Amino acid sequence: MQPKTIITKSGKTLTVRLPEQADLDQVLTYINDLIAEDTYIIMSGEPVTEVEEKAYLTSLLNEINQKQTVAFYVFDGDQLVANGQIKKRARRLSHIGDFGITVAKEYRQDGVGSQLMEMLLEEAKKIGVKIVTLEVFSNNERACHVYQKMGFTEFGVLPKSVVHRGETINLIQMYKKNDS
Ligand SMILES: CC(C)(COP(=O)(O)OP(=O)(O)OC[C@H]1O[C@@H](n2cnc3c(N)ncnc32)[C@H](O)[C@@H]1OP(=O)(O)O)[C@@H](O)C(=O)NCCC(=O)NCCS
Repeated sequence: MQPKTIITKSGKTLTVRLPEQADLDQVLTYINDLIAEDTYIIMSGEPVTEVEEKAYLTSLLNEINQKQTVAFYVFDGDQLVANGQIKKRARRLSHIGDFGITVAKEYRQDGVGSQLMEMLLEEAKKIGVKIVTLEVFSNNERACHVYQKMGFTEFGVLPKSVVHRGETINLIQMYKKNDS
């Protein structure tokens, strides 16, 4: 895929492109900033090491090459500011893709997440993802709003299953048909 651009609500022009092995340093800093923020993602606790992140990135690039995953990184100049992916499940469930997204703190609330999500949903159609699922913390009001806006519907709740900032909260499961 050729790099594409996103214009944010505040007028910033950001570049959207495929991940590359050379992004390792950036993505390591990016994920560790999110972990330090203790935001609404599963990754928490100790920082990720370079070795762990290298293994993760290598595996992600392989999955992209094998058309098992679509993933985009978003840059403001040289700085990684958002990422997202949809990963296909295996065999009988291979038409189902699991979605994930993050936007760096300073870039939220500017339309980046919504636009990135639209691009990922379109790209996922090309690898045969017909149903997209995701999980979201019940206290993540912004993400819930974005997902509902994009057409996702709740289909399950794992009650009192996520420990986040000292509270035990629900994990909400959502899905969207992605074949139209
Ligand atoms: C969730 C996330 C990906 C959304 O991306 P974003 O770029 O901030 O989202 P956008 O700017 O595109 O859209 C935000 C929308 O939520 C709305 N919103 C913000 N706070 C809200 C709240 N507390 N309740 C309801 N809606 C809210 C905004 O008004 C906006 O609505 P609109 O598009 O209808 O105008 C991003 O905020 C993020 O990465 N958060 C931290 C990590 C995370 O939560 N990842 C998702 C895990 S499931």
